[in-house]
Amino acid sequence: MTSKLRIAFIGAGRMANLHAGLITLEPDVQIVAAADIDAARAEAFAAKWGGAVFTDHRAMLEQTPLDAVYICTPTTQHAAIGLDCLEFGVALYVEKPLDLDLRTAQRFVEAAEARHVLAMTGFQWRYSEGYRRAEELIGDDPIALVNLRWYWTRPPIRWMWDRTLAGGQIVDQNIHLIDVGAGLAGEITTVYAAYNARQTNHEPEFQNWDGYALTLHFSRGAVGQCAGTYALFPEIQLEPAADFALRDRLVRITDKRVQLYTPGGVETWQNTEPLHRGVNRAFIAAVRTGDRSYIRTPLRAGLVSTATVLAANRSAQTGAPINVAAFLAAESAA
Ligand SMILES: NC(=O)c1ccc[n+]([C@@H]2O[C@H](COP(=O)([O-])OP(=O)(O)OC[C@H]3O[C@@H](n4cnc5c(N)ncnc54)[C@H](O)[C@@H]3O)[C@@H](O)[C@H]2O)c1
Repeated sequence: MTSKLRIAFIGAGRMANLHAGLITLEPDVQIVAAADIDAARAEAFAAKWGGAVFTDHRAMLEQTPLDAVYICTPTTQHAAIGLDCLEFGVALYVEKPLDLDLRTAQRFVEAAEARHVLAMTGFQWRYSEGYRRAEELIGDDPIALVNLRWYWTRPPIRWMWDRTLAGGQIVDQNIHLIDVGAGLAGEITTVYAAYNARQTNHEPEFQNWDGYALTLHFSRGAVGQCAGTYALFPEIQLEPAADFALRDRLVRITDKRVQLYTPGGVETWQNTEPLHRGVNRAFIAAVRTGDRSYIRTPLRAGLVSTATVLAANRSAQTGAPINVAAFLAAESAA
């Protein structure tokens, strides 16, 4: 008889509930605990998905035998909580971005690697059917231009209105497209950014930029752009998109499909499952089998993409282009 995987959540808010709903579709998975500093959140989570309730993640880790933990707290706590988890030998699914503090993030990644912990960053796009098809469509062919676009509104979760907590739209949201771009066109080597500070939104709680424009260089030779905004409205019908221009063809990935534009017309492949399904299936399969080849986004990939978006913030603040590798090295040593 297969024993059930014992899974717990730290942070029992929106993303924890989304992941819980998807892992319970996988066979032989049991949610055994949730820790949230807000007891009501932890209790509501447990009422829905089962398991014991904690308000302190360390108490949960000490008292509960676990195979894996999802870290779904606000971003500024990911790395510190991740370091706590390493003491308990559990596999880790860490929500993106890895953290806003690159030094702690780097310490966490190095400690996890030294202990050979199975640990990943939650970049769900890379596990989608559309992304995997795009890998085949692009292969190693030269890419001329990458264009990343995510138009959105004020985030539904209020702490994300504060750039000191969520990092702004590039860090919190466009990081997914940055990671898709890096996955298909090679790492981003330099970034230059200009941001628009609260030009359209003067609500006191909105302590953020509302327009974002990046210029990028990719290691495989492409140049790129990334545009984001918090100025619009939730119902906007423009899907977030990553465009890749190659010789005589364009590959467009969205959260719902991939398209190939050629002189012969447009071919479309729709995703057949929700965007977060593949990443959760892969994590559970990796934990069950110990086979790390299921993991496309190890913690280090998360660290690099996180460094890239934080480098964009630095560029917007200083007005200078930033070399991402040098920025990561300097911030990690700071
Ligand atoms: N992958 C994605 O598509 C995606 C989408 C949205 C958010 N996120 C990321 O997921 C993370 C969580 O976002 P969310 O939307 O679920 O936020 P949320 O506010 O709904 O949930 C966060 C929960 O963490 C709890 N919490 C805070 N500090 C804690 C601590 N020290 N210990 C335990 N619990 C604590 C809060 O009480 C809250 O219930 C963020 O890092 C965010 O950037 C990822």
